[in-house]
Amino acid sequence: MQEFEENPPLEFDPEQCRNESEVESKLIVQYLLPALGYRPNDWHQEVAVGSIRLDFLAFAAQVIPFVLDANSPLSVAMEAKSPKQNLDLHVRKLGRYLSSLNIKYGLLTNGKEIRIYARNSDTIQLVFQCKGREIQDELNAVKRLIGRETLKNQDHSIDTNSQASLQSIGKDEMKVIAVYHNKGGVGKTTTVTNLAAAIRKRGKRVLIIDLDSQANTTFATGLIKFEDEESDNLKSCYVYHLLKSEELFPVSEVARKSEFCDPPISVIPAHIQLMEKEVELGRLDFTRGTLVEKLKAAESDYDVVIIDTPPSLNLYSKIALIACDYLIIPSDLKPFANQGLQNVSTFIKEQNTFRRYVSKPAIEVLGVLPSKISTNAKFFQSTFPKRKAAINRYGFNVLDSVISEREDLAKCAELSYTIDDQEIPDPKSVFDFKPDSPSAQEFDALATEVLQKIGLVV
Ligand SMILES: Nc1ncnc2c1ncn2[C@@H]1O[C@H](COP(=O)(O)OP(=O)(O)OP(=O)(O)O)[C@@H](O)[C@H]1O
Ligand SMILES: [Mg+2]
Repeated sequence: MQEFEENPPLEFDPEQCRNESEVESKLIVQYLLPALGYRPNDWHQEVAVGSIRLDFLAFAAQVIPFVLDANSPLSVAMEAKSPKQNLDLHVRKLGRYLSSLNIKYGLLTNGKEIRIYARNSDTIQLVFQCKGREIQDELNAVKRLIGRETLKNQDHSIDTNSQASLQSIGKDEMKVIAVYHNKGGVGKTTTVTNLAAAIRKRGKRVLIIDLDSQANTTFATGLIKFEDEESDNLKSCYVYHLLKSEELFPVSEVARKSEFCDPPISVIPAHIQLMEKEVELGRLDFTRGTLVEKLKAAESDYDVVIIDTPPSLNLYSKIALIACDYLIIPSDLKPFANQGLQNVSTFIKEQNTFRRYVSKPAIEVLGVLPSKISTNAKFFQSTFPKRKAAINRYGFNVLDSVISEREDLAKCAELSYTIDDQEIPDPKSVFDFKPDSPSAQEFDALATEVLQKIGLVV
């Protein structure tokens, strides 16, 4: 058995793993097992059961001697491969091991890539995937899935109860959601940032794209920390660059890592100058298709992309509505916002016409999201149902989730700290600001509803 290190290293560097045995020792033994809460007595190396030989078997609730049967405690098999190996070639075998031994989860890695599969009767589904060098950022998501504490608190009913959700996990194609309303100030940006955080915290790889020249999402994700033009580190590489070139500026180059949420989220920033670029970009024949193409090239890097849009019917809104698969329309349901839905409806129809020309299916409108809704009991009981009913007139569904008007949502986007009398913006998602707040719960419920509707439930 390999030597166990008392204090797991804080960093894992895939470059240090040159062969299978280094993946076993440096990634699994020294890093993952301790980081996931498994003590030396909770796991075994080179476990042979009949003709099966597992590299590692970790138990959430059992020590030696271990038993593997239908009632066996929750356990994880871990298979290490050489960095030269393609993991796809080992998935079927892992599936066979998990089914034969009644093991719920299997982790498969070659150091460069880490995947987790969940068994559902006789099939397995991919439930998590990240690059080896991203594991530090992804650790909380991995813990939530196969950490010792998580598994200890689960019961065996997952096998039958989660059947429906596990089936949909298998679809690992990237989903693109635009958040749009042509009325300003209805909560689009607040929805983008906090929905992205809620989905990220469930282990999905999320990309936010800011297509609004007000750059509010860019600010709310903490990417604007500079005070003056000289230290503006965004204007040389932001969403305009991604749109203006067919070959250069891929998503990976333009996206920045934002710490407004833990784990971090990738964000393609906007810039105030985006406004004056509209005419130039509008002249290019290909602009409306560039985002579609660039996202296609990045589809193995993200599970969910969320696009923030300007409150207008301009080129950037068109680009968003052409690139998306799904649309959420936040609305405070006030009379002007409701009247604006007529424009939204016409705008969607126009973009669907363009999509037909380029053989893209029509936008799937997930619904109008009641946003900034007063928590006043009387309003909620009498006025709110009437306002919701008015939406149907415009041919839209209303989502079940509701985002109430609460100070925390405005506050978390405006947090800052001071250094040498300089105020540095340090915004957080509502989950990272107040995880137990009613607003966090509302956004969590929205994430559940949205993930269910787009077939991505964990
Ligand atoms: N549920 C809420 N409770 C309290 N304040 C909110 C809520 N949602 C949004 N706000 C605040 O309302 C203002 C407008 O919200 P937001 O920026 O999300 O709207 P928007 O639709 O993106 O606006 P724009 O059309 O200008 O881009 C912001 O100051 C935000 O902090
Ligand atoms: Mg906005």
